[in-house]
Amino acid sequence: MTDVEIKKGLAGVTVDHTAISKVNPETNSLLYRGYPVQELAATQSFEAVALLLWNGELPTHEELRAFEEYERANRDLDDAVRTVIDLLPLEAHPMDVLRTAVSVLGASAAGVDDNSPAADLAKAKLLFAKIPAMVAYDQRRRRGEALIEPRADLDYARNFLWMTFGEDPDDVVARAFTVSMVLYAEHSFNASTFTARVITSTTADLYSAVVGAIGALKGALHGGANEAVMHILDEIGSAENVGPWLDAALAEKRKIMGFGHRVYKKGDSRVPTMKAALDTLVEHYGAGDLAALYDALEAEFVGRKGIYPNLDYPSGPAYHLMGFDTLTFTPLFVAARVTGWTAHVREQAASNALIRPLSAYNGPDERHIEGYVASEAEREVAERDAEAQ
Ligand code: COA
Repeated sequence: MTDVEIKKGLAGVTVDHTAISKVNPETNSLLYRGYPVQELAATQSFEAVALLLWNGELPTHEELRAFEEYERANRDLDDAVRTVIDLLPLEAHPMDVLRTAVSVLGASAAGVDDNSPAADLAKAKLLFAKIPAMVAYDQRRRRGEALIEPRADLDYARNFLWMTFGEDPDDVVARAFTVSMVLYAEHSFNASTFTARVITSTTADLYSAVVGAIGALKGALHGGANEAVMHILDEIGSAENVGPWLDAALAEKRKIMGFGHRVYKKGDSRVPTMKAALDTLVEHYGAGDLAALYDALEAEFVGRKGIYPNLDYPSGPAYHLMGFDTLTFTPLFVAARVTGWTAHVREQAASNALIRPLSAYNGPDERHIEGYVASEAEREVAERDAEAQ
């Protein structure tokens, strides 16, 4: 055993600079390229926020129009991607389906290994346009429903909802969906973004970084929490059951999904904005019972533990009310966070250093295979290493 200090989970470790977002737990604030996320959610489209994250500035009218045109022209499901999705079992988790679909897109796209800033921006825009079709189609096929072709007359959010449900979405729903996308878009060096940066640091391509990030996001301690919140709310059933359910859950030392955060300890800055969007959906769908259950669990858990909700707490029920399957929630998070991931890929590539931390070995002392005789070359290397230490 060594006496070096171990920073388990890299907690409290600052590994690099970033100009993309600033999470400030002291003031419960989150800035994208300097703008408070609440202001962006209230005033900007998700398309505009994506350009802000990639380019550093909000787009001009012309830049936004050009990107919208590109996105509308590229939002169909590729044949190769559809063929592979169709090969996957209906029971496959949608995050596994999406991870595979993005990998297929990357393997079949031109210029995959061109890691220049311009090529990476083009790949980021392609993923932005393509992921909604993958997510929407997977939910439809699980329900035994046919593929719905995209519509070029709709913006990103409305088209996403259209391809999923085959109906023109109500304004309230499209608005709440956009808010969720903006709030989920970026959050500094979270686990999936850091995964993307680690992969980029090896000079692997952007698609590989995004596939790895999807894997990291799947876990319930990270993106999978929005799905897990809905499972918990389903399990509790109604507001009256909250007290006894929580007694049992805490006695079993269960983590209550949708609460707590590695960085924010006094509340997640994104929650009030998403909760307000959830409130509009509750009113729109007449979902008072779900709202009562939501409020009761929050009041009871915060009261007992002083641990506050994170963004997944309001977004899970919001996606549920919109009609998404619980299993589709984390893929929606991917559709949003791919903007942040790819912004970080470009930032990492622009000022790269291979990410390779050290570890403190605590396994068995050196031992040898009986009868093994080291070669002269092996002995020379061992001697050089010993001299160097
Ligand atoms: N439910 C119950 N207890 C919780 C909790 C939760 N959601 N979040 C934190 N705690 C408790 C821990 O059990 C621990 O208690 P202890 O000191 O008695 O052991 C204490 O609070 C500190 O938690 P810890 O797990 O060390 O904090 P962390 O910074 O490592 O973890 C999370 C942060 C997000 C992983 C954690 O809060 C969690 O698992 N939350 C639920 C999953 C979730 O919603 N994830 C989405 C994050 S955006």
